[in-house]
Amino acid sequence: MITIALPKGRLGDKVYELLNRAGYGFEAMEDVGRKLVIEDEEKQIRYLLVKPVDVAVYVEKGAADLGVVGKDILEESGADIFELLDLGFGKCHMCVAAPDGFIENPSRRLRVATKFENIARDYYSRRGRDAEFIHLNGSIELAPVLGLTDVIMDIVETGTTLKENHLTVIDRFMYISARLVANRSSYRFKEEKIREIVSQLKEIIAE
Ligand code: PRP
Repeated sequence: MITIALPKGRLGDKVYELLNRAGYGFEAMEDVGRKLVIEDEEKQIRYLLVKPVDVAVYVEKGAADLGVVGKDILEESGADIFELLDLGFGKCHMCVAAPDGFIENPSRRLRVATKFENIARDYYSRRGRDAEFIHLNGSIELAPVLGLTDVIMDIVETGTTLKENHLTVIDRFMYISARLVANRSSYRFKEEKIREIVSQLKEIIAE
């Protein structure tokens, strides 16, 4: 049996749709209710429905053989797992944004609000920029509006949230989309089955 960790929520709905089209739809997929584990006896697949931020953990630790996770969460987690396929949805970019008209003072430490502290630390250390990070879990755009930080690092999809809060993108640096990932040893020991799933998904994505 193959275990696949799927994200609940916004990304999850798109994943279910893709799996359905690839013939991996589990019964009553639209009506999973509060169930966290769903088994497809016929296809020998078990689905775990987990928080998007936890998918990489389940896969890295081997509780799931495969998973679907956003590239942003994958990078932030630093999980040692295989990235098998770009699923082509959930597309957005990681960006640095600041209040309209912001002029950076390079002699001052830059204050950055973000959910993605590891990505942010790496970004500024590569640039040799002295920065401090304020970790927030949502509504990041509020931080510079209130003067809590100078800039934010966050995902931008349509740009509407930035615009409505009078923020402008300063740098757009990471392409993000949903990725199919695999546990390293599962990939070795269940290679045939995993390859079959990957090729079926590829066919649907290419349509
Ligand atoms: C994400 C992100 C931005 C917004 C970007 O937040 O953190 O706030 O979407 O999308 P846009 O460019 O299309 O406006 P999400 O909706 O996931 O909620 P959150 O603030 O609780 O993280």
